[in-house]
Amino acid sequence: MPHETPLIATVAIGFVIAFIFGFCASRLRMPPLIGYLLAGVAVGPFTPGFVADAGLAAQLAEIGVILLMFGVGLHFSAADLLAVRWIALPGAIGQIGVATLMGVGVAYLWGWSLGAGIVFGLCLSVASTVVLLKALEERNAVNGVNGRIAVGWLIVEDLAMVLALVLLPAFAEALGGQGGDAGHGAAAAGSIWLDLGLTLGKVAAFVAIALLLGPRVVPWLLAQVARTGSRELFTLSVLAIALGIAFGSAALFGVSFALGAFFAGVVLNESDFSQKAAHESMPLQDAFSVLFFVSVGMLFDPMVLLRDPLSVLVVLAIIMLGKSLIAAAMVLALGYPLGTALTVSSSLAQIGEFSFILAGLGIALGLLPPEGRDLILAGALFSITLNPLVFLGSDWLTRRFAPEEGEVRGAARLRSLERELMKAHLRTEARDAERVLKARELAESFPMFASLDPQGMQDLLHTFRHRTANPGARLIRRGDRADTVFFIAAGQVEVAVAGRKIRLGPGEHFGEMALMSGEPRSADVTAVDYCQFFTLDRRDFRRFIAQHPEIRTVVEATAAARRQMNEEKAAAGA
Ligand code: CMP
Repeated sequence: MPHETPLIATVAIGFVIAFIFGFCASRLRMPPLIGYLLAGVAVGPFTPGFVADAGLAAQLAEIGVILLMFGVGLHFSAADLLAVRWIALPGAIGQIGVATLMGVGVAYLWGWSLGAGIVFGLCLSVASTVVLLKALEERNAVNGVNGRIAVGWLIVEDLAMVLALVLLPAFAEALGGQGGDAGHGAAAAGSIWLDLGLTLGKVAAFVAIALLLGPRVVPWLLAQVARTGSRELFTLSVLAIALGIAFGSAALFGVSFALGAFFAGVVLNESDFSQKAAHESMPLQDAFSVLFFVSVGMLFDPMVLLRDPLSVLVVLAIIMLGKSLIAAAMVLALGYPLGTALTVSSSLAQIGEFSFILAGLGIALGLLPPEGRDLILAGALFSITLNPLVFLGSDWLTRRFAPEEGEVRGAARLRSLERELMKAHLRTEARDAERVLKARELAESFPMFASLDPQGMQDLLHTFRHRTANPGARLIRRGDRADTVFFIAAGQVEVAVAGRKIRLGPGEHFGEMALMSGEPRSADVTAVDYCQFFTLDRRDFRRFIAQHPEIRTVVEATAAARRQMNEEKAAAGA
């Protein structure tokens, strides 16, 4: 190499090898995620051949975690979660509790500390969002009632893990680790409660600020950026918000990157631009989460499979059997049918990104021994690979044991949940529908905009300003410099030009001639009655017609016709 470029080398090798392994995995009908993890193992220190820079990979992975959590926040739907709360909340919490106990149990048998057992158990208790969503998508079940329950359940698990990430450093010392802050030193008795209170206080302050200020500032900021019409600036602003809030909140409030990024997503989620933001940031989310999985793979020591096959099997049994049985039992105990129990339990019978994040923190805090991470990684690799088989098994069980629709045990309960979900869905749809309606109204009131695509229409709706005028108000003075173009939504105006008075009404526009030609205003324009306008200022107007040539043609044609009419009248009058 001509000079040292470790960052470029790490990124390039990470992408290339992840692509090769991911592609092969997908050809073998396995989730590409398995390929990314194996790619990491291949360039990791435990396998022969090239070894990538672990420190750099870890930092790149952190960006992946931030973007992953941002994505989770961006898709988080409080309404959906609320609708399934009576099953997702007790189910997820119960499952986490029992799975953690199992983890603590085996950790005890292996002679690990209580802290190690708790971290280990928590790692085994939480499923992977990426894998679950992919599995449900493949089966076309994301929007079905069972899929929604599984997603809600997982969100509760995710939230519990976010909480665990926040609380773990405060409890680390008490659990036999090294404590949250390096150099914290000997803690006085009871200081754990102080630490805990402080941590929770900081988190509460951060959440309050994020939820109070965020919905005011972020949508406003994005609207301003959207008005510039630059896609790259928009993508940049989304990234700046995600990474900026994550990093800033970590620096100011000491909360984890993951929590900061999650709330950045939640805040954006509420804005009109959430879909655009999700769309524009998706490629980066994908790219960096791939690096995250590669860097996790790099930490895996495959020798654990030879050294300790029994422990790997125990871990797999907890993830795939233990967790599934608890989940299924809880769903049935809550009175839902067998089909629901089987879908939920198979969706959750794997572990993934959160387990890796948590295990990483556990090791950093001196709680989890490194072999714990190897076991967790092995458990993740196998449980994700075998997940499609679990679904096949659950399909078979459903066919075999679930009676016909209608007489299904718990069917009434499921139907009532379905209705509630539908209601929640309609509420969010109402918000979107309102936007579509506005766009449609706009196209109906202004035929010149009918040719715009939905994105152009949304753009215009966000760029337009509202203005009203009383009868007699002077809107444009002849000879003035041009700064605004008016679109009449209601009322009439009078254009005084070449000794004539011309009325313009709803659907028509004025003020375009001077803006197009750069000359002073060609006429006086006065409101005849109460008027409502949409206006565009000079910059927005220029940008808009530059982006939409078909609108430019219409506006130019009207301006030319008006100019000609005025010149003819002036010539006739002279
Ligand atoms: P502008 O010259 O910017 O400001 C005055 C506006 O009056 C002008 O743009 C047109 O929009 C409008 N206008 C001028 N002449 C006519 C006309 N003959 N018929 C309708 N509108 C006109």
